[in-house]
Amino acid sequence: MKILFIGDVVGSLGRDALKDYLPKLKAKYMPDVTIVNGENAAGGKGLTQKIYHEISETGADVITMGNHTWDKKEIFEFIENAPNLIRPVNFPEGNPGKGYVIHKVGKRKIAIINAQGRTFLPPIDCPFKALDELVTIIKKETPFIFVDFHAEATSEKLAMGWYLDGRVSAVVGTHTHVQTADERILPEGTAYITDVGMTGPYDGILGMDKDIIIQRFLTNLPARFEVANGREQCNGVFINVDDHSGKAIAVKRIHISEEHPLFD
Ligand SMILES: [Fe+2]
Ligand SMILES: [Fe+2]
Repeated sequence: MKILFIGDVVGSLGRDALKDYLPKLKAKYMPDVTIVNGENAAGGKGLTQKIYHEISETGADVITMGNHTWDKKEIFEFIENAPNLIRPVNFPEGNPGKGYVIHKVGKRKIAIINAQGRTFLPPIDCPFKALDELVTIIKKETPFIFVDFHAEATSEKLAMGWYLDGRVSAVVGTHTHVQTADERILPEGTAYITDVGMTGPYDGILGMDKDIIIQRFLTNLPARFEVANGREQCNGVFINVDDHSGKAIAVKRIHISEEHPLFD
């Protein structure tokens, strides 16, 4: 089972970068399932119905979210009818939408789960407890389980990787928008990377206009963040999973920018 995952798509430049690179990445890696984090896809915060369809048409089978899930209010109107859209599973009871989806690949199935950390993020239900319970149930149905763990602290992400090692095929981090160079397969067979990075502006600060962010640091005055313009980047990870055991056999970090072309 081959999995391609693309990290946080930021704004229209992020969607353009996805259109530029996703078809090429799919041609190169031939994934069975393609997953895209879309929490920043609409103007840097949240997701609209139109953009949900746009990202799906670009080639995403499943779209994951994060702490910006509810930023565009219209999501409340379509999330229940968006079969391939998931938000963190450990959001408190009563939140609309769902935290995982079972995606069919021929006769096989892969579970894609979205969860969110609690360190330096709003207090929500325990992601460790939520994933422990969910993975135990899903394991009876399929050995292929992919987790997008949306979290700020590297320690919390590493803890989740080790906690789930051997129980899921992959724990992939999102949210910080900066790719980490620590991709590996943990001893019991779980592919892991602390953060895959973002897809969108290359010359901004986490996707936002750098001058506005610098001013914010200089003055501490409130400022309206805007998505940056200019050159683009695309970040993600490709994971190959053993077809019988569900354990990872390869993990490849993907970074594409002007300085690091796709076919280097
Ligand atoms: Fe993000
Ligand atoms: Fe986030």
